[in-house]
Amino acid sequence: MSKSSKSYNVYILGLLFLPLIYLRCDLGNKNSTTAFEPVAIAYDGLGYAGSQTCAACHEDIYNLHIKTPHFNTSKLISASNISGDFTENNTLELNNSIRFEMTYENHYYQTAFKDNNAVRKEPFDIVVGSGTKGQSYLYWNDAKLYQLPVSYLTKSKQWIHSPGYSNERIHFDRAVIPNCLECHATFARNRLPSDFGSNNYVKNEMIYGVDCESCHGPSLKHVNAHSVDPHLKSAEHIMDIKALTQQQQLDACARCHSGLRKPLKMPFTFKTGDKLDSFRMPNHRPIDTTTLDVHGNQYGLLKASVCFKKSESLTCTTCHNPHKNERGHSESFSQICMGCHQDSKNHQFPLNDRMKVNCITCHMPLLKSSAITFKESKNDSVMVRTHNIGIYTDITKGLYRDIKE
Ligand code: HEC
Ligand code: HEC
Ligand code: HEC
Ligand code: HEC
Ligand code: HEC
Ligand code: HEC
Ligand code: HEC
Repeated sequence: MSKSSKSYNVYILGLLFLPLIYLRCDLGNKNSTTAFEPVAIAYDGLGYAGSQTCAACHEDIYNLHIKTPHFNTSKLISASNISGDFTENNTLELNNSIRFEMTYENHYYQTAFKDNNAVRKEPFDIVVGSGTKGQSYLYWNDAKLYQLPVSYLTKSKQWIHSPGYSNERIHFDRAVIPNCLECHATFARNRLPSDFGSNNYVKNEMIYGVDCESCHGPSLKHVNAHSVDPHLKSAEHIMDIKALTQQQQLDACARCHSGLRKPLKMPFTFKTGDKLDSFRMPNHRPIDTTTLDVHGNQYGLLKASVCFKKSESLTCTTCHNPHKNERGHSESFSQICMGCHQDSKNHQFPLNDRMKVNCITCHMPLLKSSAITFKESKNDSVMVRTHNIGIYTDITKGLYRDIKE
């Protein structure tokens, strides 16, 4: 029996373990060292336990995880997670007649002005994007969820018109369908569960962020088994991801990292171990390795690289610790490269000490995003790390000079 078929019967579980919820909460509170932003967890019937529960027994992983862009990729709005400026640079002018103002009046708001008349004002309710590159914002209109017209670009510290919006009119009407939330949240419950186009959600049954249970699946049964019997040493009712095939492991990340593919099944139904191509339309076109976008296809690019084609075992976790914020750790990444490329005799120039810890500067260079997203930024393009590992002679020439001590 394959690991994946050990999938949890989530509906039954919710009922079976209802009496144990109190026990679980106690555990979480007693041992959790980190203040946890209270969010509503969709416990009801689906078997989600919430990541603060995991902290009780996996404290180290939990403490690393809450600092990752994954964990922070969607949240209820608060002063600590909103990037933009609400006092000085708080205006976005689209053209001579349309502008927006971002203000704080006990809550955060966007107001649209046409010819100096305020025509529409909506609250910032949910933030999408950790702010590494930028953020978009969502608002509720009753139980319906919409994207706000103004987004934020971190690098140039400016408000921008949301990606894909026309500058000729005021848009407050872009529905946030489940497909959008699927990559930026762990769970959302749609009131019309078989309608791909519905933006009608149960507000307090959302699990924000790409949290533990996004990758590990609903884990209430695991939590309960180990809470009841703390002496259990081997993991119960949870998948060992390391034991999956290479393709299953790749699919677990490619679900969100293979670009915007047409959905074939309802969002939030994919579980680690599943075959991605039956959930999202396979991309048969050859991957364009020269143009990248912020919804980057790291999976497609990696598969196009010589390293992937010539080695049998490469997965995302060969290089990435999925629990850790590793941005800027180029030295440890270089060590992973050298795990397969022990010596650097292939170089026609000697690698100095700085180059030895910066393999990725030359072989996975930052390329300009040709992005659909944030394309209106005037100053700087968003830079994206290509995963098509290779030789970039033109870029390298310049870098060789820069990097040389
Ligand atoms: C009451 C204690 C307890 C709680 C709470 C708990 N776990 Fe575990 N977990 C364990 C033990 C014990 C193991 C086995 C030893 C180990 O790997 O640390 C384990 C192992 C795991 C493994 C490794 C599985 C494998 O075979 O490689 C994963 C993944 C995991 N837990 C995820 C979670 C998640 C996600 C949560 C929160 C939703 C959670 N755990 C909450 C006790 C707990
Ligand atoms: C449910 C969707 C989802 C899954 C599954 C997922 N990711 Fe992500 N990942 C994201 C999103 C969204 C971001 C952007 C977060 C942000 O900055 O707001 C991201 C960002 C990242 C980053 C960049 C972090 C940084 O420093 O900016 C890395 C690396 C990454 N993911 C690796 C992985 C790996 C490896 C896996 C598989 C083990 C994986 N992801 C699975 C959605 C996902
Ligand atoms: C197929 C999965 C997927 C879908 C659908 C998706 N995103 Fe993303 N998004 C990602 C990933 C992955 C990243 C990070 C990519 C990277 O770092 O290269 C990202 C990055 C972002 C960022 C920049 C985050 C940062 O700070 O770096 C924003 C903002 C964002 N997405 C908003 C949205 C919104 C709004 C929607 C829905 C209308 C959406 N995304 C739909 C996967 C997705
Ligand atoms: C982006 C996906 C992702 C997220 C989010 C995530 N994990 Fe994992 N986790 C993995 C993968 C993939 C592995 C297997 C790692 C490997 O191949 O070595 C893993 C392994 C584990 C293990 C086994 C021991 C180990 O260190 O490898 C435990 C325990 C675990 N995760 C717990 C958690 C907990 C608790 C959280 C939340 C606080 C969490 N994970 C969040 C993807 C994720
Ligand atoms: C799992 C092993 C593995 C890892 C990890 C790995 N590579 Fe490779 N790479 C290979 C193999 C195999 C080849 C084929 C040529 C060879 O045998 O050296 C290759 C080829 C290359 C090439 C030649 C590309 C071309 O177009 O001819 C470069 C450059 C390279 N790797 C750089 C890197 C860098 C930089 C890293 C770290 C970010 C890395 N590799 C990580 C296995 C790996
Ligand atoms: C300053 C830029 C630069 C840095 C830093 C750098 N390389 Fe290279 N690398 C190149 C260039 C350029 C080539 C093509 C051969 C040449 O012109 O010397 C190359 C070739 C290679 C090749 C062989 C390709 C083949 O077809 O034989 C591998 C493997 C490789 N590099 C791995 C690494 C690893 C591993 C590191 C880090 C320890 C690293 N490189 C650091 C620029 C760089
Ligand atoms: C050979 C090593 C290697 C492999 C394999 C690898 N990555 Fe990366 N990844 C890196 C490095 C190095 C960075 C740059 C980190 C930094 O900028 O500090 C990176 C950055 C990222 C980012 C942030 C991109 C950006 O433009 O900011 C995402 C997202 C990501 N990886 C996802 C993945 C996913 C998903 C997979 C599997 C399909 C994967 N990676 C496989 C080495 C790797």
